[in-house]
Amino acid sequence: MHSFHYCDGRLFCEDVDVTVAAERFGTPLYLYSASTILDHYQRLDDALSSLDHSICYAVKANTNRAILRLLRDAGAGFDIVSGGELFRVINAGADPAKCTFAGVGKSHQEIEYALEQGVYSFNIESEAELDYINEIASAKNQRAPIALRVNPDVEAQTHQYISTGKSENKFGIALEWAAKVYERASKMPAISIRGVQMHIGSQITEAAPFVAAIEKIAPLVSELKIKYAIEFFSIGGGLGIAYESSIASGSGDWWTSQRSHPLTIQQYVDAILPPLTRLGLRILLEPGRLLVGNAGILLTRVRYIKETAQKKFVIIDAGMNDLIRPALYGSYHEIVPVEKITEPSPQSSPSGRGGREAAGEGKTNKIDVVGPVCESGDFFAQDREMPELRAGDLLAVMSAGAYGFVMASNYNSRPLPAEALVRGDKVALIRKRQTLAELTRDEVDASF
Ligand code: LLP
Repeated sequence: MHSFHYCDGRLFCEDVDVTVAAERFGTPLYLYSASTILDHYQRLDDALSSLDHSICYAVKANTNRAILRLLRDAGAGFDIVSGGELFRVINAGADPAKCTFAGVGKSHQEIEYALEQGVYSFNIESEAELDYINEIASAKNQRAPIALRVNPDVEAQTHQYISTGKSENKFGIALEWAAKVYERASKMPAISIRGVQMHIGSQITEAAPFVAAIEKIAPLVSELKIKYAIEFFSIGGGLGIAYESSIASGSGDWWTSQRSHPLTIQQYVDAILPPLTRLGLRILLEPGRLLVGNAGILLTRVRYIKETAQKKFVIIDAGMNDLIRPALYGSYHEIVPVEKITEPSPQSSPSGRGGREAAGEGKTNKIDVVGPVCESGDFFAQDREMPELRAGDLLAVMSAGAYGFVMASNYNSRPLPAEALVRGDKVALIRKRQTLAELTRDEVDASF
């Protein structure tokens, strides 16, 4: 389910007219639907009900405190990758004892902080890290709870930048070495073995790679259960979402449309349940994108239309600094007009009711949707068939709730966008737009 739909030609998020939010908070604006996030969490939780499980939201996907609080209240744990994320989770009132700490390059400071806060497990990515954590925990007279991240060497069939479960990736410890490393860990004075972890990649739209990875690691998990009485097996995150939908045509539902969602939560769970049930162990999941991806949009206004001999550019007020996914991964985001553009009718309807009429003869044209940043990689869509747009039109870049704002930067000295959250018929600002003064606030004049 997602909660973006047209009503009388205007895009709504739950019961809030998206135009109203854009006018109130300005653009570019990230707008999230609380009920979509909670619905996704609940669906996954319900589908897993036959299993002893815990959902640890991968905080990196969207770190806004209001969203962390929503998920905390729903009962989620958290998967973090830095001291900063741990700080945010604590700041949101969540329990560090429900946090797993991932990442290949944890620092001394981060490890100390996580030990002091009492995280549930350090997910360890190398022997060097294991030694380091043992040393730091010894010095503090503590025992660090750990799991090894095991690399199963499976092909996740996703973009190469977000594939993590192949032996050539920097992540995890090779399956063939894992038993030996566990043996070493078991002899370390300040380490306590708590589980096993894997994560094979992100935006995976087939069940097969998940099942293959689980089945490859399962014999090790069973062995560790007997040897070290481990408590959990974390299967990571990675379930893909729909980036194409039928919202543009106004019909259908993202989750049921074949093309737009090749793997549903139920299909995913049906596939992974049998091998997991056989293990008889607590299962942790680390979904990020699945929970928040389709729950967010980036609202932006058309600034200018520019036609060259070869191309028509629609220049918007959001740039690659606000949403870098198209520039970085060549990823697809659907872009829809907030006010539906209809073909002109003989009895012309006034703008704002039933959508606005196209300027041309209701035709679509191939356009590039680009931002104001000084790079040719600053695009949101290339050669995309879209209705006739005009300066001032409000557009929604769909499925921008995950890895959107969190990857935003100040490139070209553009202030970070604002974020707002919708619940029912209410909309609240959950992060103020950055000001120009904030751009230079932390700079210090050299004192030499
Ligand atoms: N667990 C670990 C250890 C991870 O590294 C990740 C994501 C997740 C869980 C959550 O994966 P998800 O369920 O969201 O697929 N910036 C990229 C995605 C990077 C994912 C990094 N790791 C993008 O915009 O597509």
